[in-house]
Amino acid sequence: MTDTPLVLGIETSCDETGIAIARGNDLLADVTASSMDSHARFGGIVPEVASRAHLEAFGPTLAEALDRAGVTLADLDGIAVTCGPGLIGSLTVGAAAAKALAVGTGLPLYGVNHVIGHIAVDALVHGDFPAEFLGLVVSGGHSSLLHVRDIATDVTELGQTLDDAAGEAFDKVGRLLGLPYPGGPHVDRLARDGDPTAFDFPRGLSKGKEKNRYPYDFSFSGLKTAVARVIEAHEDRAEVLPAADVAASFAAAVADVLVAKTLRGAQALGIDTVVIGGGFSANSQLRDLAAERFAAAGIEVRIPPIKFCTDNGAMIAALGTAVMAAGVAPSPLGITVNSQLPLTTIVDHAPYEPPASTGDAA
Ligand code: KG4
Ligand code: ZN
Repeated sequence: MTDTPLVLGIETSCDETGIAIARGNDLLADVTASSMDSHARFGGIVPEVASRAHLEAFGPTLAEALDRAGVTLADLDGIAVTCGPGLIGSLTVGAAAAKALAVGTGLPLYGVNHVIGHIAVDALVHGDFPAEFLGLVVSGGHSSLLHVRDIATDVTELGQTLDDAAGEAFDKVGRLLGLPYPGGPHVDRLARDGDPTAFDFPRGLSKGKEKNRYPYDFSFSGLKTAVARVIEAHEDRAEVLPAADVAASFAAAVADVLVAKTLRGAQALGIDTVVIGGGFSANSQLRDLAAERFAAAGIEVRIPPIKFCTDNGAMIAALGTAVMAAGVAPSPLGITVNSQLPLTTIVDHAPYEPPASTGDAA
């Protein structure tokens, strides 16, 4: 193995089967198959459908990734796979496949954290990370603020959402406004034509005692309810809803809270770099506000291109190369998948423990 390991990254935590190959910060292949079209008509991800789609897509996606990178399994130095958080069935398909590959090739296996992968991927685009930075991971499933001293070994959670994730809140408001699923991008587009000051929507956990108690945590459910009230009130009065203004005011509230709390964390810790990742970082209101406020505060913001913000294999290959280069021990082959994997676990080393027998099985 050279100093820079060649790593296969496997991501199957939700509806994307992502397989990528990276050598250090050099991405050699990144192939994604998505089952989103099969879920759209249900208005949300159907876990069973997603798991089956991973099973079908896995073989062809792996073959294509190896082909595009021009390598074989024998050239690899390690295999990294998402082992949580995510949908259990989906995670299980990727983890089982990764274990089979590890056994077959004798390569070390690294069961890694999906959320930290959303940040790790930025090294493939903008190069090595500074000694210390904040990571804001925002998507349909997560809204987390991370304090990163070393992406391979030292990540702590500064804050997270207490209820909905940012993308989830957008999807729910999209539904309230009668927009197709997933509503996030539609609300974003509608918001661009509206007045962000038309409605004074609440900024969750941003005032008084709540702000002091949860300085870096997020809450979007009160905001979503406030939007629902405005829509209901218009319906009750049989008035035409100024939908673009509602969308713009709602989007402004979400972006304001995300940026304000991240900025407060950076200033409190004396940090000058923020990395934003996750599918919601496509959001134009967040991007615009982050660019403006962080620049004014002298803080550098790194946001990877959209294709690396949605779930993909590159994020897992990137985290895999980082942990291998740092000499982190591989995971035992008995690792399980964990839908609630804590953010402090970068590589999972927990051995499988059979559930304790209750002794009353008849
Ligand atoms: O990371 P991702 O692809 O999947 C998850 O892990 O959740 O993120 C998808 C989420 C969805 O909730 C989607 O509506 C939202 O991110 N999203 C957006 C935008 N693009 C995607 N929300 C607001 N504005 C956007 N431009
Ligand atoms: Zn994700």
